[in-house]
Amino acid sequence: MSLKSFVKIHDLYRNKTPIVMLTAYTVPFAIAADEVCDIILVGDSLEMVLYGAQDTNSLELDTIIKHARAVKNAAKNAMVLCDVPFSYYEQSKEQAFANISKIIKLSGVDGVKIEGGIEVCDTIDFLTKRGIAVMGHIGLMPQRVRTIGSYKKIKDGKEAMLASAKAIELAGAFAIVIENCQEEDASYITQNISVPSIGIGCGNGCSGQVAVFEDICGLTPKQPPFAKPYTNLLNQIKSVAQNFAKDVRGC
Ligand code: KIV
Repeated sequence: MSLKSFVKIHDLYRNKTPIVMLTAYTVPFAIAADEVCDIILVGDSLEMVLYGAQDTNSLELDTIIKHARAVKNAAKNAMVLCDVPFSYYEQSKEQAFANISKIIKLSGVDGVKIEGGIEVCDTIDFLTKRGIAVMGHIGLMPQRVRTIGSYKKIKDGKEAMLASAKAIELAGAFAIVIENCQEEDASYITQNISVPSIGIGCGNGCSGQVAVFEDICGLTPKQPPFAKPYTNLLNQIKSVAQNFAKDVRGC
């Protein structure tokens, strides 16, 4: 297995080295992320961040495949994962396998991420037994926004989340994203599973952290409260445009 596989991620986990993961959807961001990250995620958040959608559910498989191929071509070191968009895996494990095989064949990514708890475990088991590296995703699941109603922090359900995490681990997932739940809950889950947890908006108790790269660059108009911006790239880009316009207009 290549060093980009989850074996390297498990080595980091065993050595208690925090796992660094960023999203990237395009070549420039992939090149920047690849220099420092253990994992690059081609997240379905691209539908909102790049295409301005209200949520991630309108994302088409072919769209994420194109972005995943660009990112995979640019990334020379990090493991590259691709989100499986809403409606391409929930129907059956066979549907999931067919669509995920297409993602892998056409983009070359090293694995996929799937949102869901106990209800997706049969699928994760089916996929992992057929050679597909799967990362789980629990806590806030943005693909379920129509039933959960908002992107607010998850304040209860600690034991149910732990049960999901354990089932996902047993099904063969190599790591699990925990999104936007209470720090003590994410820490509790992390302490009671044997695969790395990757937190976003859950404090510091996870085995690693993930962020949407554009959020921490100050590029997204609606910044999630938990995303710490390290710069304001939007203002810098605006100033480039203003300077170009000045030069063209000669004033
Ligand atoms: O799509 C995405 O960017 C994600 C991360 C927030 C984990 O799933």
